[in-house]
Amino acid sequence: MAFHYRNLSFFLSLLSLSTLSALSLSAFSPVDNYLVDCGSTVDSTVDYRRFVPDSSISARSLSLRNENPNPNSPQIYRTARVFRQPSKYEFPIRDEGTHMVRLHFQSFNSCNLDWNSAQFHVLVNGFVALKVSNFGGGDVLGPIVKEYLIWVGSGKLVIHFVPDKKSNFAFVNAIEVISAPKDLIADTAMFVNSEKVLGFDGLAKQALQVVHRVNVGGPKVTPFNDSLWRTWITDDEFFNSGFGSKRIYFGGRIKYQEGGASREVGPDNVYNSARVIRSTNASIPNMNMTWVFPAIGGYKYLVRMHFCDIASISLGLLYFNVYVNGNLAYEDLDLSKATNYMLASPFYADFVVDGDDSDSLTVSVGPSNASVPFAIDGILNGIEIMKLNNSVGSLVGEHCAEWVLRSWPKAHVSLLVPLIAAACVLLSLSVVTRRRIMKKKEFVAWTKLPVDVSEVNAKHGNTQP
Ligand SMILES: *[C@@H]1O[C@H](CO)[C@@H](O)[C@H](O)[C@H]1NC(C)=O
Ligand SMILES: *[C@@H]1O[C@H](CO)[C@@H](O)[C@H](O)[C@H]1NC(C)=O
Ligand SMILES: *[C@@H]1O[C@H](CO)[C@@H](O)[C@H](O)[C@H]1NC(C)=O
Ligand SMILES: *[C@@H]1O[C@H](CO)[C@@H](O)[C@H](O)[C@H]1NC(C)=O
Ligand SMILES: *[C@@H]1O[C@H](CO)[C@@H](O)[C@H](O)[C@H]1NC(C)=O
Repeated sequence: MAFHYRNLSFFLSLLSLSTLSALSLSAFSPVDNYLVDCGSTVDSTVDYRRFVPDSSISARSLSLRNENPNPNSPQIYRTARVFRQPSKYEFPIRDEGTHMVRLHFQSFNSCNLDWNSAQFHVLVNGFVALKVSNFGGGDVLGPIVKEYLIWVGSGKLVIHFVPDKKSNFAFVNAIEVISAPKDLIADTAMFVNSEKVLGFDGLAKQALQVVHRVNVGGPKVTPFNDSLWRTWITDDEFFNSGFGSKRIYFGGRIKYQEGGASREVGPDNVYNSARVIRSTNASIPNMNMTWVFPAIGGYKYLVRMHFCDIASISLGLLYFNVYVNGNLAYEDLDLSKATNYMLASPFYADFVVDGDDSDSLTVSVGPSNASVPFAIDGILNGIEIMKLNNSVGSLVGEHCAEWVLRSWPKAHVSLLVPLIAAACVLLSLSVVTRRRIMKKKEFVAWTKLPVDVSEVNAKHGNTQP
C-alpha cells in the first residue's frame, strides 16, 4: 500500500504564547515518554516537547540532513535516519498497557538518495504496522504521521524497519512512544452488523491504527491543544449529507466528570463544537446527518463517536439514533442519562464494525421515536476511526511480521556485524510532560539505538505482541 497522503494528520503549527494560559487543566503525565528526532545530533523542540537525537554508531544506518529545509517546517523534519538493513529501536517500557506510537515521515531532496527506493515495512511489537511501497513517487511530500495504539505487556516496545530488498531503504524522521492514559482504550465495545449489536471483548490487546480523527463542526485541533498531542482535522471532506443541520460552537466550559470521557479521551476543542439537527416547529425533521470515511475492506474498525450536549436548553430533551454502516448501533441515545444529568458533559461510544467491499464506512445520527419537537434532535461532536489488525497480526496485508523479517535476503544478513553490545548507551533524558506549563517532571533512561538486527535477532526477536 502506498502512503495515502489524504489521510495524514500533519501539523505545522506555530504556537502562540498568548494561548498558553488558555487551557491547561489536565494532569496527565505519561510514565513512558520517548520523543526521538531520528538522524539528528541535537535536541529539537516542537510545541514545547523536546525530541532527543538517536545515535549513529551503526555504519549500516545513515543520518540525513535536509540542507534546504522549509523555514516553517518543524525541526524534527529536517533530519532522517535511513536504514539499508533491517534495524530496530527498542524502548524500555515501565508502564504496562496501551502505548501511543507515532511515526513521522517527511522526504526531502538529498543527493545520493532516490526516494523511489524507499520501500519497506515497519513492525511494532510483532504487528505489521506499515508498508511503504511508493513514497510520493519522487515528489517531496509530507509530513506524514502514522499513529498506532499498541498494548505492551513485556518490558519493551520494539520497532523494526525492514527494507524490502537490498536495493531499497527504510527511513524515519521522528518517533514518539508514549504511555496512554488507562481510560483511553476500554477492553470492550459494541460490535454492530446488520443482524445485531453484541459485545466485542479484547479490544485493548488489538493493534489499532488511527485512520481518521475529526472534530465535527469545528476547526482543526493541533497537538498543541490536545493533551495527548493528537491532531483532529475538520469534518468537511467527510460530511456527506445533513441538509438542514447546523454547526454550533459553545463558549462555556466543558464539564468533564469522573467516569465519563476525560480530557485525554477528547479535548475541550473537540467537545465545544458540533453539528446538530434542530426542530424549530412542531414536526421532527425526517433526516440524518451522515459522514462517509474511506476505510479499506477486510479489516475490522473501531468507530468512536464523541458526544457532548452543548446545544439543548435543558436536560431530558435530546434523544436520537446512531447508525454505523447503515445499521442501528444505538437507539434513543439519551445524553442526559449517559452523562448523569449534566449538560455540556462529554460522553463517547465505541463500536466495532467489519469494513466491507465498498472501502468506506458511514456514520449517521438522526432523530429517534423519542425525539422531541422544538428541540435538538441529533448531535455529534467528534469521530475517530481506527483499524484493527487482521488475523495474521497485520494492519497492511496478508503477511505476518515473521514473514517480513524472513524475507530479507539471507546471504546479505549473514554479512551483518551485530552491534548490539556497543549500542547500549544509557543517557538521561528530560521529558517535558506538560508542555503548556513547561514543567520538567521526570527523568527517564533509555537505550540509545538503533541497532542492526543480526540473523539471529531477526529470527528470535520479539515478534510476539
Ligand atoms: C488552541 O486553541 C485556542 C482556543 O481554541 C485557539 O485560539 C488557538 O489558535 C489554538 N492554538 C493552536 C496552536 O492550535
Ligand atoms: C417545520 O419547519 C420545517 C423547516 O423549517 C418546514 O420544512 C416544515 O414544513 C415545518 N413544518 C410545519 C408543520 O410547519
Ligand atoms: C437514517 O439512516 C438510517 C441508516 O442508514 C436509515 O435506516 C434511515 O432511514 C435514515 N433516515 C432518513 C430520514 O433518511
Ligand atoms: C419507531 O418507529 C418506527 C416507525 O413508526 C417503528 O417501526 C419502530 O418500531 C419504532 N421503534 C420503537 C423503539 O418504538
Ligand atoms: C490481532 O492480533 C492478535 C494477536 O496476533 C489476535 O489475537 C487477534 O485476533 C487479531 N485481531 C483480529 C481482529 O483478527
